[in-house]
Amino acid sequence: MKVLYITANPKQASDSTSLTIGGAFMDAYRAHHPDDAVTTLDLCRSDIAPLTLADLSNMADPAGAMQRHARQFAEYDKYIIASPMWNLGIPAVLKAYIDHIMVAGVLFKYGVGGVPRGLLQGKKACVILSRGGVYRPWPLSLLVYDKRYLKRILRFIGIRDISFIVAEGTELHRDKVEQIRAQGIREAQDIASEF
Ligand SMILES: Cc1cc2nc3c(=O)[nH]c(=O)nc-3n(C[C@H](O)[C@H](O)[C@H](O)COP(=O)(O)O)c2cc1C
Repeated sequence: MKVLYITANPKQASDSTSLTIGGAFMDAYRAHHPDDAVTTLDLCRSDIAPLTLADLSNMADPAGAMQRHARQFAEYDKYIIASPMWNLGIPAVLKAYIDHIMVAGVLFKYGVGGVPRGLLQGKKACVILSRGGVYRPWPLSLLVYDKRYLKRILRFIGIRDISFIVAEGTELHRDKVEQIRAQGIREAQDIASEF
């Protein structure tokens, strides 16, 4: 199996809750799946930037950057995304990456009557999020877009088997960061063993 681990955080892993939990997930995953090929894509240390006019002009070009990114993404069987919550959503670099890979004909296509159909059917994803506040209880859950948006995008491209680990309250409960991380790590180890 080919596995892609995507991170979107400029911090050092030890200073980041999402990267700490993501790292624990990957360690557990590797231990349970020693033969799998894991690639890490650190978006904050990559060439991913907002789409340019040149990117849009070359969108239909199989040799263009967008199609290349989309084809590379589609090569994997499993995806793990670790992201902090920034301004109720995801960091701009993760959105920029999504803009690069969402190419019709590679990750999805339009069928009869314009109904979109995801082309990555049968694949799976785990999304690891960390939030400074606590938004799980309704109606606060309506305020935030990180989980909802990533779920929509993954389902749009055909991935229906999606696990979420959401570590909340890292700023609101600063004195409990270690417990918050420990809980996330336990969930990550559980999910990774069967992922
Ligand atoms: C630029 C920026 C924007 C943030 N926006 C929010 C926010 O809208 N809501 C929130 O609860 N926390 C927000 N936070 C706090 C982070 O979500 C929190 O620190 C989280 O633990 C970050 O994940 P990390 O520890 O992996 O970096 C923000 C932090 C930064 C740096």
